[in-house]
Amino acid sequence: MGSSPFLLSLFFLAFISSTNAIDVKFSKPYNPLILPVKKDDATLQYYSTFNVGSFSYKANAVIDLGGPFLWLNCNGSYMSSSYHAVECHTNECSAAGGSIFCSGCDGAFRPGCTNNTCGVFPYNPYNNSVATGGIGKDNIVFGPRSWKVSNFPLACGIPEQLYGLCKSAQGMVGLGKTPVSLPTQIFSAFNLPRKFALCVPSSGRHERFGGIVFGGGPYYMIPYPKDVSKLLVSTPLIVNPVSTAPVRNEGDASYEYFIGVKSIKIDGKSVPFNSSLLSIDKKGVGGTKISTVTPYTVLHTNIYKALVKEFVKSAASKKVASVTPVKPFGACFDSKTIHSYKTGSNVPVIDLVLQSESVYWRIHDTNSIVRVSKDVVCLGFVDGGSKPTTSIVVGGHQLEDNLLEFDIAASELRFSSSLLLYNTKCSHFKDV
Ligand SMILES: *[C@@H]1O[C@H](CO)[C@@H](O)[C@H](O)[C@H]1NC(C)=O
Ligand SMILES: *[C@@H]1O[C@H](CO)[C@@H](O)[C@H](O)[C@H]1NC(C)=O
Ligand SMILES: *[C@@H]1O[C@H](CO)[C@@H](O)[C@H](O)[C@H]1NC(C)=O
Ligand SMILES: *[C@@H]1O[C@H](CO)[C@@H](O)[C@H](O)[C@H]1NC(C)=O
Repeated sequence: MGSSPFLLSLFFLAFISSTNAIDVKFSKPYNPLILPVKKDDATLQYYSTFNVGSFSYKANAVIDLGGPFLWLNCNGSYMSSSYHAVECHTNECSAAGGSIFCSGCDGAFRPGCTNNTCGVFPYNPYNNSVATGGIGKDNIVFGPRSWKVSNFPLACGIPEQLYGLCKSAQGMVGLGKTPVSLPTQIFSAFNLPRKFALCVPSSGRHERFGGIVFGGGPYYMIPYPKDVSKLLVSTPLIVNPVSTAPVRNEGDASYEYFIGVKSIKIDGKSVPFNSSLLSIDKKGVGGTKISTVTPYTVLHTNIYKALVKEFVKSAASKKVASVTPVKPFGACFDSKTIHSYKTGSNVPVIDLVLQSESVYWRIHDTNSIVRVSKDVVCLGFVDGGSKPTTSIVVGGHQLEDNLLEFDIAASELRFSSSLLLYNTKCSHFKDV
């Protein structure tokens, strides 16, 4: 069996992770505007840290790629004299996606306790719960070089709203296509090109972080000697004309990120299912979106069943032995029959085929296979039933150690596929 670049790369990685001092000389100074991202291994959530307000309240917020804004539990230890509420029934309120209701409060003034405040609906997808809260503005500071944004819009949630979030989290931060999302606010605060790159790490055990880089490349990731943005493949971002948000106004388009998957292949062979599931209908149902709040890719049951069947068939032909599935997965394998990286992987590759046959997002073993015990690994996709709003929700496990650049201005997604192929990974951003 020949050794593909992928296998070599994994061998290499074992080497670079055991040495700390490796560095590469880059020709240009590199000073990205980056928000570090960490993974919580217990919940499989990704989060970032912000210092908020006049007393630098340190808050972790779970990243929701398709979320509308930053919301925090304001009834904890967040105190601030620089906080001010956005008034309801103002233009500023409608720009913030505010609702017709005004939020009020009986107590003394503090963040989250103000009158005549622009009302919004902080949403927690892990609990599927919507609260009501007011939107206000305060200063936030983040990143290794303490980037500061004044008057950053944030919504105030309540402590109950934190249910299901990782232990350290005090809220969630949205990266969606809204005027008040983190990327939009940062683009305008720093006058940056309207694009951001998301690179989520595969483990919270790394000392280093993954990150969100604002304003575009270059992206330098140790020890890869060149600009990672040169590796990226492009596909259009698609607008779903119907909002997929839990609370929405009629006529609103979705602010989540959809791409046009045309078919799925396993080891080059098409997975048979009704492809009308891959288009978005008039009601906004169907299609493919990307989500950081879904730990494993969720598929419409018809796609899921076909994928599992073909994957198991292809795996069996490569002498990978199936074992009894472990929930929530539908196909699991004896890990002893999976070849180690040094001798060559026999895990089938999954391709999400995009605008043409030659453009695909390849999902390699580290992104398709999940270890559930010492002896068992599973195909890391789950069944979304027969009536999901979106047919394919590409989830966290499939995104890890892939660099994704969301170019809002050009309405394009650019993706790297697994960075392990290039001997690097999301926790290896230079200077983070
Ligand atoms: C906020 O916290 C105070 C003190 O712990 C409590 O009395 C109050 O009910 C809380 N408010 C909300 C909306 O949870
Ligand atoms: C909001 O208005 C109520 C009723 O007028 C008042 O009791 C309360 O103190 C006000 N709250 C704040 C934070 O100003
Ligand atoms: C949401 O959180 C509440 C506690 O605040 C809990 O009782 C409820 O079961 C949770 N719902 C889901 C769907 O997890
Ligand atoms: C595919 O699904 C669509 C919508 O449910 C249906 O109209 C069509 O007949 C199906 N095509 C096939 C070949 O089953």
